[in-house]
Amino acid sequence: MKKILVIHYSQSGQLTEILHNFTRSFQTDDVDFVEIKPSRAYTFPWTSASFYKEMPSSVLEIETALEPIQFKYDSYDLIVLGYQPWFLSPSIPTTSLLKHESFLKLINHTPVVTVIGARNMWLNAQESVKKRIQDAGGKLIGNVPLIDKNPNLISAITILHWMSTGKKTKKWGVFPFPGISDQDIKNSTIWGDLLYRHFSTEQLSTFQDKLIEQKGIVISDSILFIEERAKKIFKIWAKGIVKKSNPTNWLIAFRFYLLFALFCVAPILLIINTLIIAPLTRNVIKRKKSYFYHTELKKS
Ligand SMILES: Cc1cc2nc3c(=O)[nH]c(=O)nc-3n(C[C@H](O)[C@H](O)[C@H](O)COP(=O)(O)O)c2cc1C
Repeated sequence: MKKILVIHYSQSGQLTEILHNFTRSFQTDDVDFVEIKPSRAYTFPWTSASFYKEMPSSVLEIETALEPIQFKYDSYDLIVLGYQPWFLSPSIPTTSLLKHESFLKLINHTPVVTVIGARNMWLNAQESVKKRIQDAGGKLIGNVPLIDKNPNLISAITILHWMSTGKKTKKWGVFPFPGISDQDIKNSTIWGDLLYRHFSTEQLSTFQDKLIEQKGIVISDSILFIEERAKKIFKIWAKGIVKKSNPTNWLIAFRFYLLFALFCVAPILLIINTLIIAPLTRNVIKRKKSYFYHTELKKS
């Protein structure tokens, strides 16, 4: 009997729902479905202060204690790791899992597939996750990122509404629903089926190519453009803030910086990029996207 570990953390339950659908066609007797919990639960809904307070630890990948994790087996034939990005980095519970001795042992010599439940920016987070899997001796063979497909600014407004109220409802009754659409959450079954077919016929190495072919992973020019720049700036903020004995005012400053960058600076830069830079750098963009579509880690 082949054994599959499906492991994740979810605050609102969105990622749990995705993974339930994703694993629908997996034969149930060989699946160990584990939900991890931080010892100190993150408040949900978030207040503005509690939300931004997690930025430095997210970006600097500082772990938190997790409640004891029970695994059914000592080793698995496949690991499905579900996670969500926080501040362009793996969420703190995910970082903590990826530093957890018992999980690292399971990853060693094991194929891993990541399933991401993001707003729309997961590229930087995935680089960290790739590296941690590789360092633990695992082999990332697939990545299935689910995102909110609404325009960037709209999804930023709606997710702030969701995170601050705890309700996945339409802001003022006029904005679209926040988060990943119900349809895409349902359709994650399609990608799980695809994975299980490759797994049961021992063709895991071709899974990601099939996923790309069937448009199970889509990266937009604008998200690539923003992510290439934003993480470096987040790191400067995070490193500065952790050094402060009283970071409250700095966290407030970061909040205003982020909102200004997202709603004022990014749109202007994106227009310049779309009109002037992108047409001249088509091949470079294509090459960069191709890298993120695949699972190999850049050689450093
Ligand atoms: C503190 C925080 C930071 C987040 N940062 C990002 C981000 O950088 N990129 C992104 O695409 N989504 C981001 N999100 C959205 C999450 O990745 C995720 O989609 C959402 O929180 C729902 O996940 P859940 O299943 O844990 O409830 C963030 C959410 C939180 C709470």
